[in-house]
Amino acid sequence: MPADQLRRTRIQDLLTSTDLNREVLVKGWVRTRRGNKYVQFIALNDGSGLATLQVVADAEKFPEESLKEVTTGSCVAVRGLLVPSQGKGQAVEVQASSIEVLGTADPEAYPLQKKATSLEHLREIAHLRPRTNTFGAVLRIRHALAFAVHDYFNRHGFYYVHTPIITGSDAEGAGQMFRVTTLPPEHPPRTEDGSVDFSEDFFGKQTNLTVSGQLEGELAAMALGQVYTFGPTFRAENSNTARHLAEFWMIEPEMAFYDLQDNMDLAEDFLQSLVRYALEHCAADLQFLNDTYDKELLERLRSITDNAFQRLTYTEAVEILKSAKKKFEFPVDWGTDLQSEHERYLVEKHFKKPVILTNYPKEIKAFYMKLDEDGRTVRAMDVLFPGIGEIIGGSQREEDLGKLEGRMAEMHVPTDELWWYLDTRRFGTAPHSGFGLGFERLVLFVTGMTNIRDVIPFPRFPKNAEF
Ligand code: 4AD
Ligand code: MG
Repeated sequence: MPADQLRRTRIQDLLTSTDLNREVLVKGWVRTRRGNKYVQFIALNDGSGLATLQVVADAEKFPEESLKEVTTGSCVAVRGLLVPSQGKGQAVEVQASSIEVLGTADPEAYPLQKKATSLEHLREIAHLRPRTNTFGAVLRIRHALAFAVHDYFNRHGFYYVHTPIITGSDAEGAGQMFRVTTLPPEHPPRTEDGSVDFSEDFFGKQTNLTVSGQLEGELAAMALGQVYTFGPTFRAENSNTARHLAEFWMIEPEMAFYDLQDNMDLAEDFLQSLVRYALEHCAADLQFLNDTYDKELLERLRSITDNAFQRLTYTEAVEILKSAKKKFEFPVDWGTDLQSEHERYLVEKHFKKPVILTNYPKEIKAFYMKLDEDGRTVRAMDVLFPGIGEIIGGSQREEDLGKLEGRMAEMHVPTDELWWYLDTRRFGTAPHSGFGLGFERLVLFVTGMTNIRDVIPFPRFPKNAEF
């Protein structure tokens, strides 16, 4: 084949190819160039996988001078022969016949030189960090997990519904909301009493970015049976922690005819199969993260797929925590919300496996959760993971109109705004359940990274919306 018609091959495909001694074309970014006056070795990566391709450039054909723009960070197109490698560390290499520089990278200015760069520093150059081994691995694993989510639900008869991102209601008081408006901030129109006149706003009322797709998900479940959403959600809480983002992605399945037990069974099977998918499809990237950051990562992932989760009630958990020898920063008493330190004690110290806590006091959970017979607790469930704490929050929903209205009144949730939600309880109501999985918390767990800002390409958190 004439070289001009040669099509580019992904490096990942070349590295696993057994079809050798053929002409290939590869394009990618130079990780390093080293060598001597006889031969130069270029380590090339195109993002298709963790491993780099070794390009060999003979000095006879490529005098040092001709490679001066082939520096770390530059982008090149290489043609050459794919041959068995003479060196250690790779099975094949490319004997270059031509090297074209597509984009130079001034070595004085390029921020990702060979020397190790801290994760904190990389956050400040988030536009370039995907080019590092670490972020390449994280982003490929993130992709695989997103794909596995859709694959799981598709195989289990769930339909993907797209719930709105702009909402006219504060779904559940799940957190402070970001306002969406086109009114001029300096001179907004005012009503007679001087307050901002939102009837003049784009939608004719106050609107916000959604904190959850659940309520609309419930509407769809009452027609399609089993649905899920997977979209961005926004919370304007001032939580400057390693587990909170202001913009994160959430997966929310919602199922008609499921009770709390069914809901827990689904959550457990879903999480186990996502982790199994990553172990099967991201072996090289996970091995790299295991070796580089966290020697127990692979073992921890396997322990998720191999062990049943521990299920117990909130009340039982409070008893365990109260009799624990450990001194907690926040005291535990029936009725108080559990802190991350309590959740992690249960998971990491007491049971040493994932835990599903159920039947929380109604006062600390959302209005839509189904009231238990005792009238004190609701059919809530939180799934707690090692190193993470809460990874899933969900519940069986209150399907009884009267009880639901009662809970809304108690919790000062406006019923008039949610007339459409209440209609599902008026017309053909049914027992149903659902949950929300924080996608970044899942990616955090699977990659073994320790800060949630390192598992989303461009994190949004208080005082940061760069890129
Ligand atoms: O527990 P949450 O607030 O539940 C809901 O929003 C329900 N509507 C879900 C449902 O039943 N359909 O949030 C669900 C999950 C949490 O368990 C956590 O994993 C994640 O979303 N999450 C966050 N992840 C990153 N940053 C934040 N600020 C998060 N807040 C919640
Ligand atoms: Mg929660």
